[in-house]
Amino acid sequence: MQANIVLLPGDGIGPEVVAAAIKVLKALETRFGHTFSFSEHMIGGCSIDASGKSLTDETLKACQAADAVLLGAVGGPKWDDPKANERPEKGLLALRKGLAVFANLRPVKVYPNLVDASPLRPEKLAGVDMMVVRELTGGLYFGEPKGREQIDGRTRAVDTMAYWDDEIRRIVDMAFQLARGRRKKVTSVDKANVLESSRLWRQVTAEVATGYPDIKLENMLVDTASMRLVSNPSEFDVVVTENMFGDILTDEAAVLTGSMGLLPSASLGSGGPGLYEPIHGSAPDIAGKGIANPVGTILSSAFMLRYSLKLEKEASSIEAAVEKTIAGGHLTADLGGTATTSEVTETILANL
Ligand code: IPM
Ligand code: MG
Repeated sequence: MQANIVLLPGDGIGPEVVAAAIKVLKALETRFGHTFSFSEHMIGGCSIDASGKSLTDETLKACQAADAVLLGAVGGPKWDDPKANERPEKGLLALRKGLAVFANLRPVKVYPNLVDASPLRPEKLAGVDMMVVRELTGGLYFGEPKGREQIDGRTRAVDTMAYWDDEIRRIVDMAFQLARGRRKKVTSVDKANVLESSRLWRQVTAEVATGYPDIKLENMLVDTASMRLVSNPSEFDVVVTENMFGDILTDEAAVLTGSMGLLPSASLGSGGPGLYEPIHGSAPDIAGKGIANPVGTILSSAFMLRYSLKLEKEASSIEAAVEKTIAGGHLTADLGGTATTSEVTETILANL
């Protein structure tokens, strides 16, 4: 197959981990006889430095015209001024919105030989295997009104958590679909005891559930969910939730595996190119040192092959090679190992 892939390395460790994923994709290209054409564009802090904008029209257009987009990370202390008008994260949010990728899939799985890297006791980790489906283009991140106003010498800032019923329906429906291929349980996380948007969320979720009699639905308040994630993480199968709740819960869920550096994500819409990125950030403290964990991005590229390019065999071959590499103890510093980014990448290539 022939596919156009846009690369957005971004900031911090982004370029290092994206370079690692490209090596893996190129190896598969040769092995399976595909032609991937890569074109690289800027996003985030580097884009602000180059053009004053965290996402240019040119980058957005290239992404919209691509088959899939692979992103590293955005942000860093250089662009962290809270008063700045243009921030790296703004570009990422505009890209998600511009690609209409409303569903962010974040799988959390524990590798048996990494249980010691987890902050939880090993017996808590047995059977942990969940898929968090985070709503990505609505809710508190995008609701209007949003901004600041001066009133009688005081400053007021406002963000709004707002959802349309159809925005809830499509994401919850995707969660139920995914549950069919898994353990057939959906946990919908909200704050329905306080928030009106959550009460609508719960109502629409109940309606969607009637179409899936084979799937068990559980509603859980977000504070309870954050507690259950550490006290009994193996009870979760598919978790579906609002944008901001999902942002918070996925960092918590990710670290159960031992390191945020391991986890991939896929952001999907209805048709159109998908956006693939590791869930970790730009890690400015280790950028340029060659020690970043490339696994999250390499697994994101496997997701890209699976969901956007429909290359299931190729996707599974990456996942198997990563599993073998981790089982073989080839680990970067975040997992207590001493391997460099390129050593881990080379071992994954050898295991392909
Ligand atoms: C994530 C990140 C982003 C988010 C930031 C970088 C804007 O934390 O993908 O989880 O909040 O969505
Ligand atoms: Mg986050």
